[in-house]
Amino acid sequence: MITRSANVNSVRELLQKMPKPLALVPTMGALHEGHLQLLRAARQKVGPKGTVAISIFVNPIQFDKAADLENYPQPLEKDLALCEEEGVDLAFTPTKESLYHNDHSVLIHENLLTKHLCGATRPGHFDGVLTIVLKLFNILQPDFAIFGKKDFQQLAIIDRMVRDLNLPVTIIGHSTVRDSDGLALSSRNSRLKAHERTDAPRIRRALIAARDIRKTGEQNPQVYLDAARTHLLADAPDSFSIDYLELVDAKTLQPVSKVTKPTFLATACFYGDVRLIDHIGLSD
Ligand code: PAJ
Repeated sequence: MITRSANVNSVRELLQKMPKPLALVPTMGALHEGHLQLLRAARQKVGPKGTVAISIFVNPIQFDKAADLENYPQPLEKDLALCEEEGVDLAFTPTKESLYHNDHSVLIHENLLTKHLCGATRPGHFDGVLTIVLKLFNILQPDFAIFGKKDFQQLAIIDRMVRDLNLPVTIIGHSTVRDSDGLALSSRNSRLKAHERTDAPRIRRALIAARDIRKTGEQNPQVYLDAARTHLLADAPDSFSIDYLELVDAKTLQPVSKVTKPTFLATACFYGDVRLIDHIGLSD
């Protein structure tokens, strides 16, 4: 049976009775197969006797656009049923009021890995992510926390926070889960119109087409960026636009002047106001 708690004090009390090790999967809900695979990885990590916890919280302070927050799907009862099926032990579903004081005034800021990609186009987003993740770590004190590699910049800054602030938790990255047509699963996919959903695998196809140039030994970043942009925009629907398309060093997440070391080609695209992200390693 899954145990559910919606406030900080009660979850701390409940956790005292739950066996270690504890693995946490932080989410904003609207669960899909990608999230479920993270939950399975968590169970694998702690074994049948350990505790798997999920947090479901649409964290307002990481949204840079009010409309994105308002439209974010929140099928909480369905999510809890899925968690029950997956054998999750604890669901932490806090209210905004129980997590943030009206006058909360402390934020965690990462200063290097957030300079580009989503960090550049979504001001304040990663401050909100790091702040909620640190709060969840402090409240639940997990031994392990599982995050998806789809959000590789998010994973990188969480790793960096754990390293730089000496947090006693082990971060585990899980590979990106895709639909059969290649589209990376996302809670936002459900907001696409039918023709946009059919079109959306163009993002993956564009990244693969650019990645394939690697076989020629090409080192000029612009060649990869131009190829990806051409594929992204070819006969795209009117609602489609590119938020960013960047080629960055896989470790530092800074733009590269030459494609020699492992690099990520990463993009964020819009269908209307629905924002989707994906990336590919050029050495994949
Ligand atoms: P959310 O978008 O709900 O994602 C929760 C976790 O699921 C993240 O670690 C994300 O990388 C992972 N995930 C999402 N789609 C995935 C996919 N297709 N394949 C593999 N993993 C996937 O990311 C957040 O929430 C929030 O920023 C959060 C970390 C919870 C902080 O609020």
